[in-house]
Amino acid sequence: MSAAALGSIPPDVVCLADYEAHAQQRLDANAWAYFSGGAADETTVRANREAWDTLRLCPRVLRDLAGGHTRVELLGRTLAHPLLLAPVAHQRLAHPDGELASAFAAAAQGAGLVLSTQASVRLEDVARAVQGDAQRGPLWLQLYLQHDRGFTRELVRRAEDAGFEAIVLTVDAPVSGARDRERRVGFRLPPGLTSVNLSGLPPAPERALEVGQSALFDGLLQHAARWSDVEWLLAQTRLPVLLKGVLHEDDVAQAVALGVAGLIVSNHGGRTLDTALPTAWALPRIAQKTGGAVPLLVDGGIRRGTDVLKAVALGARAVLIGRPQVHALAVAGALGVAHMLRLLRDELEIAMALCGCATLGDASQAVFARPPAHIESG
Ligand code: FNR
Ligand code: LAC
Repeated sequence: MSAAALGSIPPDVVCLADYEAHAQQRLDANAWAYFSGGAADETTVRANREAWDTLRLCPRVLRDLAGGHTRVELLGRTLAHPLLLAPVAHQRLAHPDGELASAFAAAAQGAGLVLSTQASVRLEDVARAVQGDAQRGPLWLQLYLQHDRGFTRELVRRAEDAGFEAIVLTVDAPVSGARDRERRVGFRLPPGLTSVNLSGLPPAPERALEVGQSALFDGLLQHAARWSDVEWLLAQTRLPVLLKGVLHEDDVAQAVALGVAGLIVSNHGGRTLDTALPTAWALPRIAQKTGGAVPLLVDGGIRRGTDVLKAVALGARAVLIGRPQVHALAVAGALGVAHMLRLLRDELEIAMALCGCATLGDASQAVFARPPAHIESG
């Protein structure tokens, strides 16, 4: 990448919200509607943030924290810290280098990268760009099951051959939410920007709808993933498979019984079912249900080191960062994404130190302050 492509970080950017403000100025209305939008009234987008904020921490003092660190174990690897970049599609809409820049940034910061099925860069190119980096975090492919299962199997095989280490099957978006912002601007991908990893996918067989039939139930959902497809996928690949977008305890039990390697507690950043519960509410319930049987990850509204600490305290092994990566990418390319990750990691260390946690293993629900009864009840 050229020095120009790396961009430069505006001097007034000191936290993730600053990247968001700069990105809004730089992106056009089309891209902004896509990246920042949620479903319908965006109640869940706001709720995700509010839920982390509402949790209050109780600092601890005078503990010996020397030698502390942010390391975590995940799927057989030791990671320097618990941050991963969430799958976010169409990143060349934010910056010409797109997912390649995010991948460089993640590798430089030792963060995990989950590449979207709908990435605008070929998965082989992303893998090749970071493979040799000894410090890099895990490289996973997010999978949307395609109507053509043969094509899907081939996509998984390509990921295996390219060196991806896990498959993240996203199960919460068989249909996009009602995205009002996108509809208002008439969102479209600019010419030349496509989901390159899906090129060659045969078109879905069209069924003429009869009067009174639903385009959704009698059309799109004919091809949507089901539990039997999770079983099918597990049988197709030697890679660990995680499910992304599980929020109901009964679904959790079914996933664990099938043998998934991990669960990502996610509401798709509030982009699918509006008024879905915030992930900070779902996480502790799911942690209780799984009882440590599989690692849990969480995303949605994580913008501060304190949010990361709270997520770990509620049972997450690691967290994923969605929109801030495209904000930082739009502002300063790979350098911006790397800086964004560094800011979050530094904030996490500060939060740990002030809560008396030398390691993330020390982060339990004891870090939370409980409101006095007269406030809690009314
Ligand atoms: C997403 N997300 C997403 N998830 C997925 O599994 N595959 C995908 O291709 C995408 N694409 C995508 C695009 C954009 C623009 C956004 C904002 C999100 C969801 C993403 O992985 C993650 O769950 C949320 O973004 C997390 O919430 P925050 O951090 O954005 O609040
Ligand atoms: C989205 C899809 C690509 O949220 O997951 O836009």
